[in-house]
Amino acid sequence: MTNKNIILDISVLSTCTIQQAMQAIGRGEIGATFVTNSKGKFQRVLTDGDIRRALLEGHGLQSNINVIPFKEAIVAHESNSIEEISQLFSDKIRLIPVLDSEQKVIDFHLYDKRRHIAVAKPLLDDEELQLVSECIITGWVSSGGPFVTKFEELMADSTNCQYAVACSSATTGLHLSLLAAGVGEGDEVIVPSLTFISTANAVTYTGAKPVFVDVDKSTWNICLAQIRGSITKKTKAIIPVHLYGHPAEMDGINAIAKEFNLVVIEDVAEAQGSTYKNQPTGSLGNMGVYSFFGNKIITTGEGGMIVTNNKEFADKCRLLRDHGMTPEKRYWHEVIGYNYRMTNLQAAIGVAQMSKLENILERKKDIASKYKQYLGNLPGITLPVELPHVSNVYWLYTILIDPDIAGISAENLMLQLREVKIDSRPVFPPVHKQPVYNTGQSLPNSEYISSTGLSLPSSPELRDIDIEKICSTIKQSINY
Ligand SMILES: Cc1ncc(COP(=O)(O)O)c(C=O)c1O
Repeated sequence: MTNKNIILDISVLSTCTIQQAMQAIGRGEIGATFVTNSKGKFQRVLTDGDIRRALLEGHGLQSNINVIPFKEAIVAHESNSIEEISQLFSDKIRLIPVLDSEQKVIDFHLYDKRRHIAVAKPLLDDEELQLVSECIITGWVSSGGPFVTKFEELMADSTNCQYAVACSSATTGLHLSLLAAGVGEGDEVIVPSLTFISTANAVTYTGAKPVFVDVDKSTWNICLAQIRGSITKKTKAIIPVHLYGHPAEMDGINAIAKEFNLVVIEDVAEAQGSTYKNQPTGSLGNMGVYSFFGNKIITTGEGGMIVTNNKEFADKCRLLRDHGMTPEKRYWHEVIGYNYRMTNLQAAIGVAQMSKLENILERKKDIASKYKQYLGNLPGITLPVELPHVSNVYWLYTILIDPDIAGISAENLMLQLREVKIDSRPVFPPVHKQPVYNTGQSLPNSEYISSTGLSLPSSPELRDIDIEKICSTIKQSINY
């Protein structure tokens, strides 16, 4: 049955009896009726709970529904977006009528408790569809066409960088930046062990060796003292990773880099839009590399971007990205390059996503503050930090669970959440422990954060009622 038919079936007049309202509720599947006046204007929602309470209070089936105390309904209007409507749900409000300009019910939204809650879901709508359609209509589906350049311009602008080079992923972006910086066989590059493996793999692709260091216990980002202690004559670069959206300590990193003449490549895959001392991350080192994988702050499906203020680096990245083909002469190659290009189709999505970036970042902050409100001060739960001089974008809102205090491990909490259709993710195993690297090092902070960490749902479309459900499941699962 369509929502329109349900509305017709279950609506009653304000002059009806409790029995008639019960019958109307029984005709639908939403456990409620919409009460209207004689002109069809919406007045209130009556739920089966309201009816049950009225009967228990002694009202008869033939009593008028007006004996039931009036509660102003939370309603949406035709012009409201799905996101706006989603935010109207709470643990008390599970049904939202949508009214037209004449106050008539034209649709409704129901909160389904059994809904699957994803960790990270992209926010895509007509805007992306329209720009992708343009690529299809015009035939510009590969790396030619206007959107790649447009997306690069938007990214350069938003990061206060002069140059931006789109590529096929952050992994290929990191590889290109390392090559542009001259990193190769026999060199060493310092990387935090607590990261997604591609930070290290990109170093390995060049023939250089990733040198793993531990992270800071509170920010989960690369530890300055450990960088200093790991520098050798072979060290060429440092890749700080702004893990889960919290910026790494860039002033300290740049100072060390200057002292030892090292290149700094920021891995901003998880932290688009974050700032360090009011400057965009990505613009603070020599190059910054973004990811647009489907779970990132914004997405192009797969995709990446290198930003820099160094023309030489930008030109080199561009050359290597395009098969090493000399820009002046088609099919002429003086270096071995790669096909690491972004397609016009992907860039079209990226351009549309850039117009949503501010809203996404705002909603992520909001989600983080709701999690903090519900999970703050729970025994054995450590929340992510936001140091005063940075802005954390809380890519995935990640908490640590001390099993000795909380009475449950992160792994088991993940299973409990899954039982009620809530997705969560473990923190990456430290790269120095991965079978392909397995260095035999002991990096206790990375190991502790990895074994106790759990990333909670963080999509911008997450509703406040979802966050309440996630947090109440966590509270029920720990010693509280
Ligand atoms: C810190 C970090 N670096 C690099 C990457 C790689 O990004 P991509 O999938 O775009 O290659 C990721 C992706 O998850 C990441 O989290």
